[in-house]
Amino acid sequence: MVLIRWAGLAFLAVNLAHATSGHLTSRAPSAENILAAAEALQGWYNPSKGLWDSTNWWNSANCLTVLANWALVDVSRSRQIDVPSIIANTFEKAQRDVLRVRKTIRESGLIESRYDLHANKRGFTEFLNEYYDDEGWWALALIRAWDVTRHGPYLDMAERIFRDMQGGVDDTCGGGIWWSKARDYKNAIANELYLSVAASLANRVPTREGEYVRIAADTWAWFKASGMINQDGLVNDGLDILPDGRCVNNGRPTWTYNQGVLLGGLVELAVATGNGSVLDQAVRTAKAALAALTDDEGILREATGCEPNCGADGSQFKGIFMRNLAYLQRAAPNDEFLVAILRNADAVWAKNRNEKNQFGISWSGPPEAGGGPNASTHSSALDVVVAARAVVEANGAVSNG
Ligand SMILES: *[C@@H]1O[C@H](CO)[C@@H](O)[C@H](O)[C@H]1NC(C)=O
Ligand SMILES: *[C@@H]1O[C@H](CO)[C@@H](O)[C@H](O)[C@H]1NC(C)=O
Repeated sequence: MVLIRWAGLAFLAVNLAHATSGHLTSRAPSAENILAAAEALQGWYNPSKGLWDSTNWWNSANCLTVLANWALVDVSRSRQIDVPSIIANTFEKAQRDVLRVRKTIRESGLIESRYDLHANKRGFTEFLNEYYDDEGWWALALIRAWDVTRHGPYLDMAERIFRDMQGGVDDTCGGGIWWSKARDYKNAIANELYLSVAASLANRVPTREGEYVRIAADTWAWFKASGMINQDGLVNDGLDILPDGRCVNNGRPTWTYNQGVLLGGLVELAVATGNGSVLDQAVRTAKAALAALTDDEGILREATGCEPNCGADGSQFKGIFMRNLAYLQRAAPNDEFLVAILRNADAVWAKNRNEKNQFGISWSGPPEAGGGPNASTHSSALDVVVAARAVVEANGAVSNG
């Protein structure tokens, strides 16, 4: 595989021999449909907070990310809702939210974040809070915001967030970062985000490229050996720390986002190092996820069968997987991935959309399942719709847009 570095940016590694048959791509939701879905997302946008109502703080980082990814594939239509000004407003105001976050893991493995009014009214200044995963989501969102706008302060802030995340690293389990500043859980998502932010910064900040590449490569070496990737190639939620100090896979759910963020992180790492061999693991995990975490029709379904009640966190996960699968698809094209992305995007549009063009939690529908669409379920499904557009464009295929 040839990795091509383009304008210092990531994820354009092209397998030139790859060809895709037209019928696979012809049904991707059209550019006009995606505009309608982006407008529906903005129905929840609260300009005075810079956040999306009906969902939580970390989810809002993902709302911003999907809008930025859409702006990268459709500059002209994204002007109609002025994505750069949404980014600017969110950048200014989302740091001021005066909440405190507490996360719990239920018996079923379901993760729940609760954001409560904070007594000190401190706010999440500079996008920092008690949880390293929340920080990582905002760092990735700001990196994508920079990709769209090239506005330096977004990339500077992503670097500042990363500096805080570095404080979460220690030798417990031989390395890696903790989930939170309480230092009681080493899990997959925080470490995948750490890897992805480091590798993404390596591809965008030339003055510190060596440092970021080293951190990303070390994090991946640790992660691969940590035991979190099970024998099926799927990533479980995290590690149990045994009384003797050894750390083992805790067998908790293989959430779709735990598979997804790893794919995007490894794509950025491959570009940063110029060594595509790390994509072998990404392909393995992606295939394992598509085999294990889909229904009979090939539609992505959250691990544990929690749908349609996956809580305020779990309702975000599937889109994160598909967004990252699209990054992998552009780096290492594979018809299985292309078909999966397009089929899921089609299902969302055809079966999981209400009359307001809002998407619900279950991609095979109906949109009202689980209490109906909110900014989390909608932005998550929008991710696969935008991903479909991105992979079709990358193929240069004709579509109905
Ligand atoms: C790429 O990485 C793999 C494993 O990480 C290593 O074995 C190989 O030597 C590397 N290739 C190059 C060209 O550096
Ligand atoms: C958003 O909707 C999903 C599915 O209906 C639900 O599980 C989740 O709790 C909702 N989010 C919030 C913050 O209510």
